[in-house]
Amino acid sequence: MYFPWTEKYKPKTLKEVVGNPDAIQKFVEWVKSWDKGVPKKRAAFIYGPPGTGKTVTVEALANDLKMELVEKNASDYRTEEAVKRFAGLASQYGSLFGTKRIILFDELDGLTGTADKGGVKAITDIIKTAQCPIVLVANNAYDPRFINIRNNCLLIEFKKPSPTEVLKHLKGICQKEGIAAEENALKFIAQRSEGDIRSAVNDLQALAQGKKRLTYDDVSWLGYRDRQETIFTVMRMILYGKTCEGAKRAVDMADVDVDMLFEWIYENAPAHLTDPHDLARAMDALSMADVYRGRIRNTQDWSLMRYVVDFMTAGVAMARVNTKTSGWTPFHFPERIQALSRTREERAMQLEIGRKLKRRCHISAKRASKEVLPYLRIIFKNNAEMAAGLSKWLDLNMEMIEYLAGSKEKTEAISRLLG
Ligand SMILES: Nc1ncnc2c1ncn2[C@@H]1O[C@H](COP(=O)(O)OP(=O)(O)OP(=O)(O)O)[C@@H](O)[C@H]1O
Ligand SMILES: [Mg+2]
Repeated sequence: MYFPWTEKYKPKTLKEVVGNPDAIQKFVEWVKSWDKGVPKKRAAFIYGPPGTGKTVTVEALANDLKMELVEKNASDYRTEEAVKRFAGLASQYGSLFGTKRIILFDELDGLTGTADKGGVKAITDIIKTAQCPIVLVANNAYDPRFINIRNNCLLIEFKKPSPTEVLKHLKGICQKEGIAAEENALKFIAQRSEGDIRSAVNDLQALAQGKKRLTYDDVSWLGYRDRQETIFTVMRMILYGKTCEGAKRAVDMADVDVDMLFEWIYENAPAHLTDPHDLARAMDALSMADVYRGRIRNTQDWSLMRYVVDFMTAGVAMARVNTKTSGWTPFHFPERIQALSRTREERAMQLEIGRKLKRRCHISAKRASKEVLPYLRIIFKNNAEMAAGLSKWLDLNMEMIEYLAGSKEKTEAISRLLG
């Protein structure tokens, strides 16, 4: 059965609530002050980001002080009428049996639109005459709708707990669940949660429940679930991956396609796998990936893609056996791609010149670029006068002349003759 860890490990006492010690103390002091008579502010307004423990703090305090907690959220007090039902409760501090009472209007932001105006107003009215502590909770206390309420309340701000505080909470849970978790793994979850303890606990449960161990590899992919990662992170996951799973996931996070990623791995592997046997294994895996790439090209059977991916990621990651991780080695852009794009441009240029030749020589542009162009190059490099005449005759543009001449000075000499 699925039972959320946020419930299972929900703080029962204030001691277990993580973070915001000052805010919590301010709150406790205010509630305790009721024992000496109705204080100046009859309501406290706790506000702050989601999942930081606002609701839980009120519940834990009621538990610690053995108070009766009347807890409501927006759907319970939408209308003026609904709120007024609490007026009776709010008019007495002690209940019939002597327990003290605290009333919580939770999730005030949930009140929407004009229909709820009555609700907000009714709450303000109750606050003015309340005989027991009223607590309001919202994410944003500065919503214009709450102006009147705010002025009548003791404002208590909850801030996001630090990653260290979240980490402590996660560690506690792992201990109770009997999970040996790498510090790095928990740190990663804590940082990613950005102070939202609820989501941190939810992530932890999704990743660790039922496991004996939780490693960094188990969690690192989480961060990239919803955003694309830079090629460098992806490369690190593959070349330094400890599990096949982790390395394979890298492909989904990469912002380059599989072919490009292949080039990246191929070019960077030697610098990062310095043990020759490791490198040989990695290259073996890459060659297998390449075999399948070829089969896809020939058969268009894209179901083979999974083998390409497995070999080039998991295969490469598992190749690392003897190489020690020492220091930091940078990743560099695949040179083969740079060279390819250079020649692609070059081929385009040759074909353009070939087309000019075709018109004058009555041969195909391709043949012209292959057979005639090399001679043009020799002429353009050695005889500016002849080059100028040919340029005119073939109607070449400056770019083409520069390409054939191969240097700035010769191009200038030719263009001077052209006038
Ligand atoms: N400070 C905390 N210490 C320990 N656990 C916490 C803390 N904050 C949140 N949690 C965990 O997250 C769950 C939700 O917390 P809670 O309901 O108090 O958040 P909230 O601040 O009221 O958020 P929201 O603004 O969304 O209502 C709790 O049940 C608990 O498991
Ligand atoms: Mg809440």
